[in-house]
Amino acid sequence: MDIGVLKESRPGETRVAATPATVVQLLKLGYGVVVEPGAGVASAFPDEAYIEAGARLGEALAADVVFGVNAPSKKQLDCLSEGATLISLLSPALDPDLVADLENRPITVMAMDAVPRISRAQSLDVLSSMANIAGYRAVVEAAHEFGRFFTGQVTAAGKVAPAKVLVAGAGVAGLAAIGAAGSLGAIVRATDPRPEVADQVKSLGGEYLAIESPEAEVSATGYAKEMDEAYRAREARLYAAQTSDVDIVISTALIPGKPAPRLITEAMVAGMKPGSVIVDMAASTGGNVEGTVAGERVVTGNGVTIIGYTDLAGRLPSQASQLYGTNLVNLMKLMTPDGDGRLVLDFDDVVQRSMTVVRNGELTWPPPPVQVSATPAPELESTREPVEKPVRQPMSAGKRLGIVTAAAAVLFSLVAISPEALQAHLTVFALAIVIGYYVIGHVHHALHTPLMSVTNAISGIIVIGAVLQIGQGDAAITVLSTAAILLASINIFGGFAVTRRMLAMFSRS
Ligand code: NAI
Repeated sequence: MDIGVLKESRPGETRVAATPATVVQLLKLGYGVVVEPGAGVASAFPDEAYIEAGARLGEALAADVVFGVNAPSKKQLDCLSEGATLISLLSPALDPDLVADLENRPITVMAMDAVPRISRAQSLDVLSSMANIAGYRAVVEAAHEFGRFFTGQVTAAGKVAPAKVLVAGAGVAGLAAIGAAGSLGAIVRATDPRPEVADQVKSLGGEYLAIESPEAEVSATGYAKEMDEAYRAREARLYAAQTSDVDIVISTALIPGKPAPRLITEAMVAGMKPGSVIVDMAASTGGNVEGTVAGERVVTGNGVTIIGYTDLAGRLPSQASQLYGTNLVNLMKLMTPDGDGRLVLDFDDVVQRSMTVVRNGELTWPPPPVQVSATPAPELESTREPVEKPVRQPMSAGKRLGIVTAAAAVLFSLVAISPEALQAHLTVFALAIVIGYYVIGHVHHALHTPLMSVTNAISGIIVIGAVLQIGQGDAAITVLSTAAILLASINIFGGFAVTRRMLAMFSRS
């Protein structure tokens, strides 16, 4: 079978449904690939690159399987062959006219934006791939508009404070924005009604701002639900306080099937500092911010720039095409069970069923609901009644003095009763404990691995000392030396094993 790759007809579309790299993968699955001339030019993939990868240039609409990014125009649809399979983004839930048109055609149509959000389908999940790119690009757009550094600096000309970024909604786009803003050096805060995202925000270096509410519960679907009035009042207080403090807001809040929740009011925007930037990623569904204009950049009276671009993923066209193309290759792998270039549509597979809008001219939309379940998260504090946390009190000065005095008394008694040769060693040992406690106790967690290497070196010294002592002939010294060798060896080999495992986590396979 041949796969045809369309040249997109929608004005302003920069992406293409296959790149030279994905063409190679499609050929390996046994398909021939026909690319419409000029299809990849806007993504920086010239026709020659496709030919080099093994594709032919030609009429993509005549192929057995047709790949597009957006829904083809009516004119293009008329050119599809009978029995062809069309695969592209279609928004079937939002475009009933298109669905009605497709229904009357003797073709099969699959919507890439209808992939269910289940673990097994992650590799085909175009909405996630695009939201990831868009979240990153939102930060780039904000940085472009913002008149200052994101990172803090100490320069000869003075100290520069880091920018403060608030990310509203920590889903796919929000997490990508947190990562990108953090890596530029900004202080990043994020909020989301799903308490289970707190750890993900923290792991990306952000601070999670919880909105305490019995309503906030771990989501079973990976999506948020609409919150009640009490929650929205608390949320409004948080946004009012944060918007007056931060320099950049990236808003990504979404509740599936609903208009974008309105989080930031005109009054909050008016309270922001001049020069602040808001990127409202939800612009196409109504916007999270009052004053957003979809597809436009607006500057308010008080000098706040509100960006409502709806083509953020397309602003990184090569990257977006590569990820979209890979999502399509993964779908083809699923639908080509024998790897022989023959497409098999399996309606028993929930992923293929959910994506299919029309099968051989028969309307199959909407699909039956899919039971999705996000990774179960542990019960979080915000789902329970608020509890007073016990605050750890620092040790009183008197208690501390008592402990130090007792320890000194024990040391002096030991020195007094020890043979002369041992006294100097005991003193060094006591000093080592004190210094070690203060030095190691203050080492940052991130530096524990290098610290472990240092302890490995110390263990090496212990092994050498014990080996020198073991043959003295005294039974007690032999037992102590053997124990020292055993324990120090465990530390050395264990340290190497753990370090090796950690390094493997960072190496590319
Ligand atoms: P997602 O579903 O992964 O994340 C949305 C997040 O918003 C969820 O974590 C949800 O819990 C959270 N949320 C819901 N109500 C909230 C509230 N009241 N306050 C704070 N957070 C709230 O969605 P994804 O894929 O990250 O997309 C985010 C938005 O970005 C969507 O509106 C999507 O349409 C848009 N988008 C925009 C693009 C553009 O070019 N402008 C490109 C791609 C996506």
